[in-house]
Amino acid sequence: MTILVTGGAGFIGSNFVLEVISTSGETIVNLDKLTYAGNLENIQALDGNPRHHFVHGDIGDPGLLTNILNEHQPRAIINLAAESHVDRSILGPGDFIHTNVNGTFNLLDRSLAYWQGLPKSRSKDFRFLHVSTDEVYGSLRPDDAPFVETTPYAPNSPYAASKAASDHLVRAYHHTYGLPTLTTNCSNNYGPFQFPEKLIPLMIVNALAGRALPVYGDGLNVRDWLHVSDHCQAIRVVLEVGRVGEVYNVGGGSERTNLDMVNTICSTLDELAPRSTFSPRSELIRFVPDRPGHDKRYAIDARKIEFEIGWTPRETLETGIRKTVQWYLSNMRWVDRVTSGEYRNWIAENYGNRS
Ligand code: NAD
Ligand code: TYD
Repeated sequence: MTILVTGGAGFIGSNFVLEVISTSGETIVNLDKLTYAGNLENIQALDGNPRHHFVHGDIGDPGLLTNILNEHQPRAIINLAAESHVDRSILGPGDFIHTNVNGTFNLLDRSLAYWQGLPKSRSKDFRFLHVSTDEVYGSLRPDDAPFVETTPYAPNSPYAASKAASDHLVRAYHHTYGLPTLTTNCSNNYGPFQFPEKLIPLMIVNALAGRALPVYGDGLNVRDWLHVSDHCQAIRVVLEVGRVGEVYNVGGGSERTNLDMVNTICSTLDELAPRSTFSPRSELIRFVPDRPGHDKRYAIDARKIEFEIGWTPRETLETGIRKTVQWYLSNMRWVDRVTSGEYRNWIAENYGNRS
């Protein structure tokens, strides 16, 4: 059996592909454009593995998709390809529309044609699983109930708006054409291979180098954190037993303010890497001007996936953060290699006008 995974050289995609290959007999076709966030080094362990086929390309390329689908005849498509960083979407939304909106449309369009051409015996089991975010629901106030699957969409950043558009297209392809879709909306992930522009890896890498830890605004914005291995497991169970056309919220039940999270990273590093001139690392924290339109709080009500499917996270925030800090400590050469010249230019642009 074969699954087409898009974005499988990125953070969640590479974790997903590595896990599926090592724990099942499934073959994976991995389509990735290799933007700054996609890195073949993440999936180097699969070099030469006959069950992993990497294709360098864009989900917005209709001819390429048609060829891949006809050649590999996947039983499912998992769409993880995206532009994923809110700060980048504020400085340049165009790529987010290209990939998250037009790319997802193209993937749906080509998948529909492929699915319609399958014999009945195979088309009934085919699935298109779209991986999305809790950010489509907008921002919660401190006492609001967490997001449920029926919470009205209210995206606030260009990133969230582009993901919301893609979710609506997936919904429409199910309702209009009957394409057997599934959608997951997940909270903030962390873990191995996350590009060091997102909060947790950025803080680990900066703290190790003795650089400032830039906390936006007052640091009291709240996110719900989930270890990437738990997200990958959720995607797998939704793919196998999720009800066609349904949406499942996925979350860690671990709400923290950004300031709490950064302090936890600092104290974990102080313990695991004590020989440093920058101890305690929390002294490196700097409050910098806020992100425009910064959502105050995200929180997920994950009871649907728990009660219908039986999924709950295995990692607690404490075990997950510890493992993640340990992974970065052991993989600083990976960090050096992925933080190329292009990334340094981006850091200058993003933080240049904040301090
Ligand atoms: P990422 O930025 O680390 O990786 C995205 C991958 O997609 C990269 O490998 C990139 O090269 C590839 N890509 C980008 N544009 C492409 C295109 N046009 N064609 C083919 N490949 C392309 O992102 P991530 O954090 O792994 O997120 C994966 C998905 O999960 C995204 O849809 C994101 O919205 C969603 N999600 C992420 C989080 C999180 O906290 N990271 C939480 C919830 C949902
Ligand atoms: P991020 O990892 O970019 O994820 P998202 O915006 O998708 O939730 O940011 C997580 C939180 O951390 C968010 O509230 C913004 C904040 N943040 C900082 O305070 N400083 C930083 O340098 C970054 C990148 C994020």
